[in-house]
Amino acid sequence: MELTLETPYSGDYGTVLDEAQRDQKQGARPKLKNRIANMEEYETVLLGYPNWWASVPMPIATFLEGYDFSGKTIVPFCSHGGGRFGQSLTAIAKLAPKAKMGDGLSVHYTGGGTLGSDIDAWLGRNGLR
Ligand SMILES: Cc1cc2nc3c(=O)[nH]c(=O)nc-3n(C[C@H](O)[C@H](O)[C@H](O)COP(=O)(O)O)c2cc1C
Repeated sequence: MELTLETPYSGDYGTVLDEAQRDQKQGARPKLKNRIANMEEYETVLLGYPNWWASVPMPIATFLEGYDFSGKTIVPFCSHGGGRFGQSLTAIAKLAPKAKMGDGLSVHYTGGGTLGSDIDAWLGRNGLR
């Protein structure tokens, strides 16, 4: 499921850099448009996001605080521009302290030619293949 926002960020790269930094500094929790009604049916949540300012985008914080993750495993994956996970794994663990954390995958921008095999190996490491 793609998380969408009530008030989307700008499509302009330079503007979204500022918006994202503002939200991070303020500890904002941007409102999400969608909600998973049957979250209790899921044991594993694959959580994907771009590395923004070395952490998760603040809508990910809204998402993680919006559900009870007890007994669930979060398996994170992120795209990045060189900073890999940054501090995002620590941020996720703090935002969803009851969740178990699976093995993460970080991908440089679009992931390049090895993306398919990297995803395959990552799913395997998490027992999801
Ligand atoms: C607001 C913002 C902050 C970013 N901060 C970082 C960063 O701290 N470290 C990094 O490696 N990449 C950073 N990037 C690059 C993104 O991680 C990269 O653009 C993204 O993973 C690629 O997916 P996209 O095509 O959806 O942008 C940032 C990008 C944006 C828009």
